[in-house]
Amino acid sequence: MAAVHSSGFRLTKEHFLVAVPVAVISAAAGFLVSRYLSSRSCKKHSVNAYFNKDSPKVVHSFDMEDIGTKAVYCRCWRSKKFPYCDGAHTKHNEETGDNVGPLIIKRKDA
Ligand code: FES
Repeated sequence: MAAVHSSGFRLTKEHFLVAVPVAVISAAAGFLVSRYLSSRSCKKHSVNAYFNKDSPKVVHSFDMEDIGTKAVYCRCWRSKKFPYCDGAHTKHNEETGDNVGPLIIKRKDA
């Protein structure tokens, strides 16, 4: 049995036996490549670009009594004084269009 296209091209059962697996394998390969590329691009967008990259997690802890009247903490991960803000967020925002700024903790009466 063969389907005849209007152009005169005949699609035989053998054509389908080849075309269907090729289409399935091509779709699966495309899916896997897109997932691979997607996972790679996510790693490029890491928030922490260079601070303690050999550590599995960067954590800082401060006692409230030790903060004093005011502390300014970096949230852009670009400060050379991390975890404290050094104003590097301004350049980061200009370069990326981002809008991050520091976390400021201060006493009410300060
Ligand atoms: S330098 Fe990162 S928030 Fe200011």
